[in-house]
Amino acid sequence: MSRINFLNNLASTKVNYNLGAGIPPLVMYPEIHLTECMEIFKQNFPTVDLLQYHQTEGLITEIAAETFLKNENIKVAPNQIMITNGVQEAIFLTLIAFKDQPIYCLDPYYPGLVDAAIALNCRLIFINEETKWEQIENIEKGALLYLSADFSNPTGQTLTLEERKKLVNFAEKNGWYIFDDATYREFYIDEKINTLYSLLSENVIHATSFSKLLAPGLRTGFVYFPAEMKSKLTQIKSVNSLNNSGITQSIIAGWLLKNEFDLTAQLSELKSRLLANKHIITTINPSYTGGFFTSFTLPNKEIDYNWCNQLLQTHSIAVCPMRMFSESSNYNDAMRLCISNIQPNDLQIVINTLESI
Ligand SMILES: Cc1ncc(COP(=O)(O)O)c(C=O)c1O
Repeated sequence: MSRINFLNNLASTKVNYNLGAGIPPLVMYPEIHLTECMEIFKQNFPTVDLLQYHQTEGLITEIAAETFLKNENIKVAPNQIMITNGVQEAIFLTLIAFKDQPIYCLDPYYPGLVDAAIALNCRLIFINEETKWEQIENIEKGALLYLSADFSNPTGQTLTLEERKKLVNFAEKNGWYIFDDATYREFYIDEKINTLYSLLSENVIHATSFSKLLAPGLRTGFVYFPAEMKSKLTQIKSVNSLNNSGITQSIIAGWLLKNEFDLTAQLSELKSRLLANKHIITTINPSYTGGFFTSFTLPNKEIDYNWCNQLLQTHSIAVCPMRMFSESSNYNDAMRLCISNIQPNDLQIVINTLESI
């Protein structure tokens, strides 16, 4: 069975305990008043015609700069930001810009990066957990390393401040670049750790998404690019999607203006749930610190698509095999659990069931 067949099967099956899909519960997405948001945008930008073509970088780069300032306390020039159709488009455009360079990623990996790199025929190099720092130290000049510094998909791992400093030191010293996929950054429970681009603005691309914060259907990401890269990326986007829809940009901008650029106010209910789930999950995986994902191992069990399908049928529990995200046999007995979409009581039932298997 392929990854796509497995996910389609998951999506079409009614399941009591859904730890498979990497999304917040639908009821926890905030209600968006679309016309109100567009009205707010129009009041602030009365001359903009949303139905026309417009600049490739996006209409709302100033709003994006204000959002970075408010949420990260970092001053970024609006002309270093691009509004993209989500982080996925930012990944694709960046891979095109780096198509003649090696692309590094950590294994287990986010399939959206790996499948895009394969589609573009990139030279993809996996970094294994055991040899991670040795491999990172040897990344060559001009290459690109993709990772998520915060709560990565699928492992849930987060880099410590020391690791972030070490990483950017290598990137700066050896002249390579980092794509930091910040899709899950706002789902911290404790203190936020400094972003990589705040530590090294010349070599780091920082990509944020509204998909988990507000609505994936708005297809919007705010992406910071180092100054020297920006015009190349704009040229690539111009032949890819021309520009993001003005309508969705106006909705995002109106929502941000209404909420004083605060990305997290609407997340308090979900974060309380993540905190309650953290107390349960750390009994089996103490490394969980926030975000949606964690891994769970059943030593010596073959956790593959068939095993997960059987778990679905017999216990109505959906999980993903970690081997779905890895080239290595090290993860054959591990699974990815998404703990954002499940109540604490139900999570406890799942853990008890998994432990009894
Ligand atoms: C790590 C990661 N990056 C990017 C995306 C896609 O984000 P977007 O909807 O902004 O394209 C996802 C979606 O699940 C994801 O898990």
